[in-house]
Amino acid sequence: MCDYVPTLNRMSAIDSILNPIRYIFSDDFTLRVAQWRLALLSRIPMGLALMRKRNTIPTSHLSLEAFGMKFPSRIGLGAGYDRNGEFVKAMEATGFGFIEIGTITPKPQKSDTAPALHRLENDRALLYCGQTQCDGVERVIENIKQYRGNIIVGCNIAKNDSTADDDAPQDYLRLFRPLYQYADYFTVNIARNSSAKPYVPTNRDEIMAILTPLFEFRRGQNQYRPILLKISPDLSDEQVDLMTDIMIDTPLDGIVACAGTVGRHGLENSTSTVHALGRKAGALSGAPLRERALEVVRRIHDRAQGTYPIIGCGGISTADDALAMLEAGASLVQVTTEYIYNGERSIRDMRAGLNERLRKAQQRQKSDATE
Ligand SMILES: Cc1cc2nc3c(=O)[nH]c(=O)nc-3n(C[C@H](O)[C@H](O)[C@H](O)COP(=O)(O)O)c2cc1C
Repeated sequence: MCDYVPTLNRMSAIDSILNPIRYIFSDDFTLRVAQWRLALLSRIPMGLALMRKRNTIPTSHLSLEAFGMKFPSRIGLGAGYDRNGEFVKAMEATGFGFIEIGTITPKPQKSDTAPALHRLENDRALLYCGQTQCDGVERVIENIKQYRGNIIVGCNIAKNDSTADDDAPQDYLRLFRPLYQYADYFTVNIARNSSAKPYVPTNRDEIMAILTPLFEFRRGQNQYRPILLKISPDLSDEQVDLMTDIMIDTPLDGIVACAGTVGRHGLENSTSTVHALGRKAGALSGAPLRERALEVVRRIHDRAQGTYPIIGCGGISTADDALAMLEAGASLVQVTTEYIYNGERSIRDMRAGLNERLRKAQQRQKSDATE
């Protein structure tokens, strides 16, 4: 015992010197730098205008009416990049048709681990770990309340990690009410699996306890806000069916499939890297998720007989990936990992490529109809 305590103290003293240095070389820092650049561009006169100009390309085939709203493009930014609603204008200038802010929590919360983000370059994947970092709902409202642009703004909501699972419904309602007038749609995140204390309810009663108060609140409002459920790719097929049935049986408007996975299968990275990361609680995103995400979207689409809009995400990094997701049954797609890796250039390429593919498909349909 006596030996142990001084060792621990010495370790934490060394760590307190090394951690800032480690941070500068970490993937978290690279992401922060990209976000600072966006924040700066948003503040300098003409910054966003130049960005918008660079990203203005013909994309008329990408627009879509879904959930009773007009999406200027079917390609959106997934949750996790802009947890505080700081980059909505920048994402519009990037060419996204919608953005999902969050995950938003009622109270601010900081990560319990550092660093939180790891690039697995060979796998075109990211591992993100620890608590969701968010400045809390009040800050988010401050950031988004002035936005009057064209893109659709979704709010992805979840309970604080410090809130007991049994009290989760109160947290979701605590977010839903004040955000209602500022959000175009809501995503109820029940796939919080990146920390050592995951929250992934899979029981119908537990999920309905979260959703019912939201439906009730919405019933008393003049404006209709679609509510979607974000699900984990690690659910069994039967659990995916249960989520689909909840959508069919209740006023739920759609599903976002999928969040990151806790699985570590099929990775190309060296065994030692994967082993080291495998011991860490965290969610894996990007290419390794693609097949399962497609499978889940197809399953929901088939069970709901194509009558509900699905937002598909997981490993979309090219126009072909986006098209495959639409063909599996998604109405809209979200991209997170690819944007973190390659920024606005890859989104521009994806938009151009998907627009062209949809244009050709429409042309084929027309000529088939006239034959
Ligand atoms: C760094 C990072 C942070 C994320 N944080 C969240 C989050 O806070 N809430 C959430 O619902 N999804 C979060 N996600 C999951 C993404 O929204 C998306 O569902 C998942 O990564 C699959 O898409 P992708 O392969 O395009 O990244 C995060 C993803 C990444 C890469």
